Amino acid sequence: MTQLEDSVVLVTGANGGLGTEFVRQALARGARRVYATARKPRDWDDNRVVPLVLDVTDSASIAKAAAGAGDTTVVLNNAGTGARGRLIDTPLEEVRAIYEANVFGPIAVAQAFAPVLAKNGGGALVDVHSALSWLATPGAYSSTKAALWSVTNTLRLELAGQGTHVVGAHLGYTDTPLTAGLDVDKADPRDIVAAVYDGLEAGDHEVLADDTSRWVKQNLSRPLNALYPQLVHEVTSVLARQSLDHEEQTLGELRRYGIFGRAAGLAAARALAGPLGCGTVRQGARHRAISRTSRQSWGATSTTELAVQRRSSGRGRPGSATAWSSGR
Ligand SMILES: NC(=O)c1ccc[n+]([C@@H]2O[C@H](COP(=O)([O-])OP(=O)(O)OC[C@H]3O[C@@H](n4cnc5c(N)ncnc54)[C@H](OP(=O)(O)O)[C@@H]3O)[C@@H](O)[C@H]2O)c1
Repeated sequence: MTQLEDSVVLVTGANGGLGTEFVRQALARGARRVYATARKPRDWDDNRVVPLVLDVTDSASIAKAAAGAGDTTVVLNNAGTGARGRLIDTPLEEVRAIYEANVFGPIAVAQAFAPVLAKNGGGALVDVHSALSWLATPGAYSSTKAALWSVTNTLRLELAGQGTHVVGAHLGYTDTPLTAGLDVDKADPRDIVAAVYDGLEAGDHEVLADDTSRWVKQNLSRPLNALYPQLVHEVTSVLARQSLDHEEQTLGELRRYGIFGRAAGLAAARALAGPLGCGTVRQGARHRAISRTSRQSWGATSTTELAVQRRSSGRGRPGSATAWSSGR
């Protein structure tokens, strides 16, 4: 089982919010050395930290880092980037650039460091995914994290033979520069990193570092509306044509679509808040209505309120997923 005590850890994207915490907590757990890699490495004022240049989209810099960090026993594939705008409108070269950083970069790092880890006894590879690996949002970001999740699962199988422990980490909104523009509840990066390292040291294959990730995974097997309440427009368009007297029918509709429970309300608010780095929270009537439903719980009464509000404000038309999801 991987222990950080006396390990040699390499962190990509080490200057970022989670990266900095991965460096600090590795040291706190007894790592002998930490390679804090970045496109522009900084000084860490700690002789256990070795700053190294590593751009995950530049194979030459990855090869150089692997050659210079030959004693590495734990690799943290943490570097990643957000996306702006809707996928459907994003120029393909921009989509490719996000995939280069979030998918091909971690693969390239894994390829370069697998022999290093093997030589040092197997070690561990940690890939930082997202709750959005399992919950699509507008923009390119969530699909890159879905791809990385699958990559990790493949690498786990392929590297088992050399004794490398491969961990996939999932987390929801966390308070780092990546989410600086988003007005949503965010986890503390210290808690997320502690959960990832706890899972690594416990021998887990996968770490669900917060309630959001646990909730999203739990709901993967439910009908799609559980994860995408914006798809409920089919229900609300029906409700908009009904009066409040039809409460029974309303309940029936909601049960049919499986839309119950506080967690669904929470997911609704999160899905509506916009993807990581993709824009600001919509302040329109629909968003306010959904926010209220998330506070109250996603039940028949609040959804009826939504229908009534939309009817009274003249917004009877069912919204598209995009209109429901961000203010861009
Ligand atoms: N914060 C969240 O809510 C959240 C949620 C789920 C998953 N994540 C994931 O957590 C990881 C860390 O993100 P964070 O929240 O700590 O964001 P962050 O503070 O923006 O850090 C991301 C780091 O990745 C680095 N990076 C980007 N492209 C790179 C490249 N081509 N080569 C090397 N480094 C590169 C950035 O380097 P520069 O400093 O040079 O720009 C930055 O230091 C990412 O993979 C992210 O997708 C974050």
